[in-house]
Amino acid sequence: MTGPGRLVVLGVSSSVGIYKACEILRGFQKAGFEVQVVMTPNAAKLVSPRLFSALSGRRAAVDPFDDEEARRIGHVRLAQEAALLVVAPATANIIAKFASGLADDFLSTLHLAVTCPVLIAPAMNEAMYLHPQTQENIKRLKARGAEFIEPGSGYLACGDEGWGRLAPVEAVVQAGLRRLEAGRTLAKKTVLVTAGPTRERLDPVRFLSNPSSGRMGYALAAEALRRGARTILITGPVSLVPPAGAETVRVESAEEMRSEVLARFGEADAVLMAAAVSDFRFSQTRSEKARKEDLPETWRLVRNADILAELGRLKTRQVLVGFAAETGDVEEGARRKLREKNCDLLAANDVSRKGLGFESEDNELLLVEPSGTATPTGRAPKTELSRIVLDRVEVLLERRR
Ligand code: CTP
Repeated sequence: MTGPGRLVVLGVSSSVGIYKACEILRGFQKAGFEVQVVMTPNAAKLVSPRLFSALSGRRAAVDPFDDEEARRIGHVRLAQEAALLVVAPATANIIAKFASGLADDFLSTLHLAVTCPVLIAPAMNEAMYLHPQTQENIKRLKARGAEFIEPGSGYLACGDEGWGRLAPVEAVVQAGLRRLEAGRTLAKKTVLVTAGPTRERLDPVRFLSNPSSGRMGYALAAEALRRGARTILITGPVSLVPPAGAETVRVESAEEMRSEVLARFGEADAVLMAAAVSDFRFSQTRSEKARKEDLPETWRLVRNADILAELGRLKTRQVLVGFAAETGDVEEGARRKLREKNCDLLAANDVSRKGLGFESEDNELLLVEPSGTATPTGRAPKTELSRIVLDRVEVLLERRR
């Protein structure tokens, strides 16, 4: 498994500049990064994927429908692990696909799924490069945050002199390394994230829980890792794969979560309590399954300790972020919890709205802070929300210095 933030995905499309991709691969390896090559089918006709597999030590990916490849390096998992996507050489065709959001091969599909920085080094004939359509595509991608390494001028494969040569190897590698370094904004920090629901057992087959999917917490942990933080993920039972590189601790009950969080609180610079901790547990539990006829008609519940409120009392330097599921007056509830639990930031969402929050890919948060500000994020995927929350955490950490 690659360490967090250490995987560069090198996208290779079919330009004659492809021979330079081998040197670019080597450049990232020399700087200590693992490189996974993803080729377009046409690139694989120019140069055998075996060459890139041999150089990188990882099988180059070409076909998303190849079962073996999908199992080993599915594009979604790769997209989550990538610290940088560099496409060199990038043809007019792959740039056009990226610009219009097509996903009909491994590379264009991956491009749609990544959240890491994207670096594109075009290489093509001058007329194709200067064509208004290509220039418009480049402009669109730049507006969405992609960085372009301008091609140089000189002798082109078609025999012409002109613009369109792939930028020098060194320029591509240096631009990539700069982007990788710039993204490691939490490099010296420890971020503790809790995620998922807790389960409060009655007996081995019955428990009290809630519909939290864990997606928000897992997205926050993945983003903290991407920014270079040592990341501790304390998770209730969910069906997600923890992000590679997180120190993952699996718990079941609120009580277990509490003791695992408290044991690590001293090491943390920031704590993000995204878990939906059960507020209650059964007053009595059974180690063996009982027949329902043998069980009482009603059960007494007792209240669990509030972990976040406890951290709010214990905190010294830590930035403390709470999450709240609200119905009704979201802002009022958020302000109350922020105050009561002594948080530095409280992210509240309205769970009464359909298709948002629990069990959903998307959410919309209201970020409330002690200064009184309440900032709505707008509806966005949880991956995007995790970036917004961590941007805010970085500002709060900066103020602590
Ligand atoms: N939390 C916690 N320990 C608990 C319960 C909640 O640490 N026993 C944390 C959650 O991880 C979350 C925040 O507190 O960050 C949620 O606050 P909470 O008061 O539990 O919200 P609700 O359950 O929505 O509260 P209420 O039922 O009072 O609205």
